[in-house]
Amino acid sequence: MKIGVIGTGYVGLVTGACFADLGHTVVCVDNNKEKIAALRSGKIPFYEPGLEGLVTANSRQGRLLFSTSIAECVKTCEVIFIAVGTPPLPSGDADLSAIEHVCVEIATHMRSYRLIVEKSTVPVNTGEWVARTLQKHVRKGVQYDVASNPEFLREGSAIQDAEHPDRIILGVSSDRAAMLLVKLYEPLNAPLLITDIRSAELIKHTANAFLALKISFINAVARVCELTGADVTKVAKGIGMDRRIGEAFLSAGIGYGGSCFPKDVSAYVKLCEKVGYDFNLLKEVMRINTAQRTAFFDKVKKALGTLSGKKIAVLGLAFKPDTDDMRGAVSLEIISLLRKERARIFAYDPVAGENAAPLLPHVTICPDALSALRGADAALIITEWKEFRNLDLPAVKQVMKRPIIIDGRNIYDPAKMAEMGFQYWGVGRPRSESARR
Ligand code: UDX
Repeated sequence: MKIGVIGTGYVGLVTGACFADLGHTVVCVDNNKEKIAALRSGKIPFYEPGLEGLVTANSRQGRLLFSTSIAECVKTCEVIFIAVGTPPLPSGDADLSAIEHVCVEIATHMRSYRLIVEKSTVPVNTGEWVARTLQKHVRKGVQYDVASNPEFLREGSAIQDAEHPDRIILGVSSDRAAMLLVKLYEPLNAPLLITDIRSAELIKHTANAFLALKISFINAVARVCELTGADVTKVAKGIGMDRRIGEAFLSAGIGYGGSCFPKDVSAYVKLCEKVGYDFNLLKEVMRINTAQRTAFFDKVKKALGTLSGKKIAVLGLAFKPDTDDMRGAVSLEIISLLRKERARIFAYDPVAGENAAPLLPHVTICPDALSALRGADAALIITEWKEFRNLDLPAVKQVMKRPIIIDGRNIYDPAKMAEMGFQYWGVGRPRSESARR
């Protein structure tokens, strides 16, 4: 099949590359000329393991094309996915202006039947609004359908998630649309759920809200653990072994970040307000998430006393491992709190340093972990990169001024850290005797 994907951000590019890999011919469109030129020469605008290889291989085979022209894409592709950004407005609502703009252009160039599919995460009822927008601009007599096919991929494992999804959600309003999408996804051989458009839209938002809820729940439990002497990693394991609960997304830490959860949870709350439901539970999810940052920062102050002039090593800047994405990164919030107290910050991230540098003008971005740790009064683990789990800890202890580690991701064993002479603070875990002294 020949399909178009408009928007070459995370979702659009991964979706386009994976569809091409399934054997379809894909035209990826973006209005950013430099980005399209770079993609044509095989350069990926962000870090995602495996994506460059996939894009290069499929471009070479002629199945993955890049264009700046929506008109060209609409002319040749029967199914067109919209994967442009829906960033949060200051009000917390999703900004749908990019989607609107794309819809107007698609409609203007449509001459025969097209299936327009929402891939971006959008509030429920956006499908109807998309159909109305298309209706206003389309030529008389041209047929079309609108569908919702939300994407559930995670940054860092996007290709694996897109090629081996737990399920594919198809929100449709006609058999023709359903048949086209089923055919498109057939080679994946994944479980399909066909629903109405509104339910599909709500499934995406609800899935993200529920995952955020799981994280905030375990983070609240982590606080209880700190007050009672229990270990949240064991509590999470114990409850997660119950298949009704499941182990995933029960890692306590400094709270969720990224470009999806914070925006989607607040957009969900806004949407509920609009339709007349006060979703207080989700407001509490957001509150717990913010409190987790403050609690972490309080630990830093407790461990170090005054922060003014102290040298702090920040390990990990990206919002999660295996990405260079700084959107919604907790590191930015923690560093801003540290800066207010006049700490001197030396940071290292295996891939996000370059993206982070312009956002953190007063932070020294170091080329490796040991350079950041040298002479530090404390080290903060912000992102759980594998590299940090495998650090040479005796060398770390040797280069630091004071062996204090405040770990926001629970990557080390508290007992072993104490044995090695570190003063180690995790999240929701008892501190060993030597660390308490
Ligand atoms: C998320 C959803 O998982 C994905 O399905 C959706 O399409 C987009 O949003 P992503 O934001 O890429 O994906 O990353 P994810 O792995 O879900 O992590 C989100 C945040 O939650 C990160 O800040 C991560 O550190 C945090 N997290 C995750 C926890 O704090 N604890 C956990 O147990 C899991």
